[in-house]
This record gives sequence, structure tokens and C-alpha cells, in this order.
Amino acid sequence: MRFLSRRRRHPAAKPLALVLALFVMGALYSAMAPTTVSTADDSTQQSQLAKGKELFQVNCSSCHGLNGEGTPEAPTLIGVGAASVDFQMETGRMPMARPEAQAPIKKTLYTSEEISAIAAYVASLAPGPKIPSKEQYDTSKLSQEQIARGGELFRTNCSACHNFEGRGGALPNGRYAPSLMKTSDKHIYEAIRTGPQQMPVFAQGSLSDDDVTEIIGYLNTLHDEPNGGFDLGGFGPVGEGLWGWVLGLGSLVLVAVWLAKKGARAR
Ligand code: HEC
Ligand code: HEC
Repeated sequence: MRFLSRRRRHPAAKPLALVLALFVMGALYSAMAPTTVSTADDSTQQSQLAKGKELFQVNCSSCHGLNGEGTPEAPTLIGVGAASVDFQMETGRMPMARPEAQAPIKKTLYTSEEISAIAAYVASLAPGPKIPSKEQYDTSKLSQEQIARGGELFRTNCSACHNFEGRGGALPNGRYAPSLMKTSDKHIYEAIRTGPQQMPVFAQGSLSDDDVTEIIGYLNTLHDEPNGGFDLGGFGPVGEGLWGWVLGLGSLVLVAVWLAKKGARAR
């Protein structure tokens, strides 16, 4: 770098400095370039949002309010996130045809573009659970131990309502936890994160993505043996659901009592 020294400037110093400056500008430009590209993205995003809002106001706002704020008919959608809309619409629950105890699962009449647009619009109201990517619930690399762990997690967190074999069960007031035999991996993930209706929300803090993937892996093994392992004396889904309820709640109560005792001792 002698030619850049102050005392004896090499004749090539100026052009070199120019080249250097150009190079720096080029680097700066390429660093800025992605933002130029994302303006194009922004405008497609804007048009998707506008389309979602329009679809929402036509199909959903009669129950959920013009801006998703909720009405006496239906809860607010502010903060439920794209995952909730994706789950509710793809499983055909929403739009609900008429007020009833529970929206039935049915074939959706909406295209995936329409569902994505409405999901994007609802997500724009306030942050909430996102639609998961495939890697977040990829069960292909699970070991037998992880699937067994998924079974334990399922029995601890889910069987109280969905039955030990995931075949579902009745809940009070004409409601029910559906069978999970035919539910897709993505919808299991979304249900866990968004807690439809009576179901609790299980956030990352209580079940990590790895935990959720293990539960899905376990449920997939049940899909493969449609009649399940054991049948609680063939009481049918109602009887078994009730047992699940009793045992599940029972164990929750025991844990609560144990925790309370522990807390008392610690104090
Ligand atoms: C006839 C009234 C009705 C219409 C129309 C309707 N919904 Fe709902 N929606 C409900 C009710 C009631 C619930 C709560 C009970 C339930 O989840 O079963 C609900 C729940 C939801 C939830 C779950 C909220 C949560 O807390 O996770 C989402 C998401 C949702 N609706 C989206 C939509 C979308 C999107 C549309 C339009 C495509 C729509 N709904 C149309 C009545 C309606
Ligand atoms: C307190 C009872 C309860 C618990 C606990 C519960 N669920 Fe649910 N679950 C429900 C109810 C009720 C529904 C139906 C909601 C609806 O239709 O709007 C449901 C729906 C689902 C669905 C959607 C099924 C479909 O085909 O669309 C999945 C998947 C699911 N639950 C998985 C789980 C998993 C996994 C766990 C444990 C991590 C769990 N649930 C814990 C009550 C429960």
C-alpha cells in the first residue's frame, strides 16, 4: 500500500481511490437493495391485506364485528393470530353457518389464497400465533423414545378431553372434544397453539415446538391403528370421555394439592 502513503503519492492513487469509492458505494447499494425489492413485496402484501379485509367484512364481520372487535355473537379476533384463522377456516369451522354450541368440522368452500388473505388481515390487527412452517412440526426424524415421550405428553395434557386414544369425548353443554384420528399435522400444531373454543392455549413456554412435534408423532402412530389398543369396556366415546375427564381432573387436583403443600413447606 506504499502508493497510498502521504509523502509520495503514486500516480495511480486517485483512480484507485475512485475505484475504492465506487466499490464501497456498490457494497452499500447491494446492502440497501433488498429494501428496494421488499417495496414490491410490500405492495403485494398491501393488496393481500386489502383483499383479506374485504373478504372478512363480507363473510365474518356479521358475527365478529366490522374490525374483528367481537360482538355478543362471537369473540374478538384481535390477537388470535393467523394460525387461528388458518385452523378455523381450513377445518371448515369458520365461517360458522349459524349460532350453535360448537362449529362443526366440514369441507371448506374457500381457496387457500382467500384463507391466507383473511389470516393476514386478522394478523395485522394485533400480533398472535403465526401459521407454522413445516420444519416446526416435522415428525420424520423422531426416534421411538421421542414418540413415546409424545404419548406421555398427550396423556398428561390432552387425554382428559380427547381420551387416551385421541378418539375424542363429550364435554358439558353439548360440546365435545373431537377425535384426532384424521387431523392433519399442521392443524394439530395450530390447535395446540391457538386453543379453539374450550381447549386451553399451550404456548411455547408450556409445550415447545419439539414437544408438539413429539405429540404429533404419537398421534400419527394412532392413525395407523384405527381401533386403538384398549377400549375402556366399550362404553363408547361418551363414557370414555367422562373417564378421561375424571382421571384427568383428578390428577390435576392431586398435582395442585402437592404443589400447595410444597409451597407451604417452602415458606
Ligand atoms: C354465525 C356467526 C359467525 C360467523 C359468520 C363467523 N364466526 Fe368465527 N366464531 C364464531 C363463534 C361463536 C366463535 C367462538 C366459538 C367457537 O370457536 O366455536 C368463533 C370463533 C372464531 C375463531 C377462533 C377465535 C379464537 O379465540 O381463537 C376464529 C379465528 C374465527 N371465528 C374466524 C372467523 C372467520 C375468519 C370468519 C369468516 C370467514 C368467521 N369466523 C365467521 C361465530 C362466527
Ligand atoms: C379442556 C379440554 C381440552 C384439552 C385439555 C385439550 N383439548 Fe383439544 N380440543 C378441545 C375441544 C373442545 C376442541 C374442539 C374445539 C372446536 O371445535 O372449536 C378441541 C380441538 C382439538 C383439535 C382439532 C381437531 C380437528 O380435527 O379439527 C386438535 C388437533 C386438538 N384439540 C388437540 C389437542 C392436544 C394435542 C391437546 C393437548 C396438548 C389438547 N387438544 C387438549 C378440548 C381440549
